[in-house]
Amino acid sequence: MEFVNRDVVSIKDFARPELEHIFEKAEDMEKKGYDKSLLKGKKVGLLFYEPSTRTRMSFDSAAQALGAGTIWFAGVEGTSVMKGETLKDTIETVANYMDVIVMRHPFDGSARWAADVTTKRATRGFNKVPIVNGGDGKNEHPTQTMLDLYSVQKTQRRVDGLELALVGDLKYGRTTHSLSYALSMFDTKIRYVAPDALQIPEHVTSFLKRKGIAFTKHSRIEEVIETVDIIYMTRIQKERFPDENEYNKVKGVYRMDKKLLSRAKPTMRLMHPLPRVDEITLDVDDDQRSYYFQQAGNGVPVRAALLALIMGAVR
Ligand code: CP
Repeated sequence: MEFVNRDVVSIKDFARPELEHIFEKAEDMEKKGYDKSLLKGKKVGLLFYEPSTRTRMSFDSAAQALGAGTIWFAGVEGTSVMKGETLKDTIETVANYMDVIVMRHPFDGSARWAADVTTKRATRGFNKVPIVNGGDGKNEHPTQTMLDLYSVQKTQRRVDGLELALVGDLKYGRTTHSLSYALSMFDTKIRYVAPDALQIPEHVTSFLKRKGIAFTKHSRIEEVIETVDIIYMTRIQKERFPDENEYNKVKGVYRMDKKLLSRAKPTMRLMHPLPRVDEITLDVDDDQRSYYFQQAGNGVPVRAALLALIMGAVR
């Protein structure tokens, strides 16, 4: 199991024991506190070409908790991207200033492309600067999945044997793609709840079929709410629809309110990668089953553990 200088591009690049190792380190950090000497003198780059609150700030918080400095931009306004600089040239340049690059970019595959750039750069005698994918278009969001699985394990004491419903925009929602790939490493049943136009893509389901993972597709939350252990709600990703009329046809399609939630098991936990728009009503926030804000909090220990591992500060 080797993490040092490793790119984190797809959750599929990790094996189950590696994910479990990250969770052990995260749990240690949560219980024992953060050691500020672990990443002293290191610099974490945060290149966010798209909006973010949780991913960028929890990585920043995690880096600072371990003593690292952060260098970042949030949105391309004010950067030389506005003058036409390519992703390759930006990565080639900023790799001189930092020890790891966390990036979010609107294009599917951009993180893999950036990882290839720093790998090739290393063949010219530079240190390899690992790339961490903080979300690439509608493709993947692997570190969100790490904190999602950590949250599942923390609330249910296991992942194996669980039944999980993934609800909402499963077509454009990159968190549900990475989560599906990760769940394929465990013994779970997945219920995909979405309108036909936003169902989980075929490239994800064919991956699950090859792995022999049980999944079903549904259009209504009511079909699954009474049996599932986790409901993972997602926002309809308005910004990824090529045609706003198509968005208008599906907006507001799911709404978890107190009445609907009351049909779920008391042990069920309601998760959401956030931000929410209107898919969970505010009166649900105080229900014991709601876990989305704690889930966002779990981003700090999980991302701290990951940074420490890929920078060789823990093993
Ligand atoms: N879950 C998530 O990626 O949130 P942000 O877009 O705020 O980073």
